[in-house]
Amino acid sequence: MKKIVVFTGAGVSAESGLGTFRDSDGLWEKYRVEDICTHEAWERNPQLCVDFYNARRRDALAAQPNAAHVALARLQQTIPSTQIITQNIDDLHERAGAKKVLHLHGEITKLRSNINETATVPLQGWEQHYGDRHPDGSLLRPYIVFFGEGVPYFPEACEQASEAELMIVVGTSLNVYPAASLLQYVPKQTPIYFVDPGQPLFGTYASRIQHIQKKATEGVPALVEQIIKQYAE
Ligand code: APR
Repeated sequence: MKKIVVFTGAGVSAESGLGTFRDSDGLWEKYRVEDICTHEAWERNPQLCVDFYNARRRDALAAQPNAAHVALARLQQTIPSTQIITQNIDDLHERAGAKKVLHLHGEITKLRSNINETATVPLQGWEQHYGDRHPDGSLLRPYIVFFGEGVPYFPEACEQASEAELMIVVGTSLNVYPAASLLQYVPKQTPIYFVDPGQPLFGTYASRIQHIQKKATEGVPALVEQIIKQYAE
């Protein structure tokens, strides 16, 4: 059974209507990272952070999985060893039917303890009320890895990448570390398919990447069908 690792970024959810970060109309064109997505911002103005992620949560809950999410879930159902690792905080992979999804930067549908980075509670609906507390007594905060904070599941993601016999990357600019360094852990002989209409920072990986320069809903379903034909039948 082929060990397939899928690594996604904001681009896989773009056609579901969720904004990316660094495209021309991206979120970081409209908001300052230092105001809402750093640990200092959370300490300085928690209500602004809560309001920002409430708006992101409302959008994410209103969005629907697209053909790329559905194809990746089908790949995992057909080849169960497939692991999805995402930088995204939305739950569209799960709502498309994916089971094994590792979120590196948190999950919009959960809140977390202010003193324990992995102690999460589910959030019903879109609105967090600032001031509510975690069972451990600390203030609840969005379950988001802010810039400058640790990425608790990165070691597990590296472990998965190191076992990959085939890698699919969808919709990431490879701008943010340590997530972008995941490709370093992929064995040299492992083929890497990269679905992205733009021109991400391939850098030293360029010679190993087969770039499918298409949008996710165009490139991913066809790639998944090709892989299933090649490895599952
Ligand atoms: N299909 C596939 N890819 C797309 C599409 C699409 N329809 N539209 C845009 N893209 C690509 C862009 O070309 C770009 O390469 O998606 C990528 C989006 O890049 P970013 O906006 O930088 O998003 P991402 O790489 O996921 O950012 C990583 O940065 O701000 C942090 O925590 C945040 O997880 C995020 C991390």
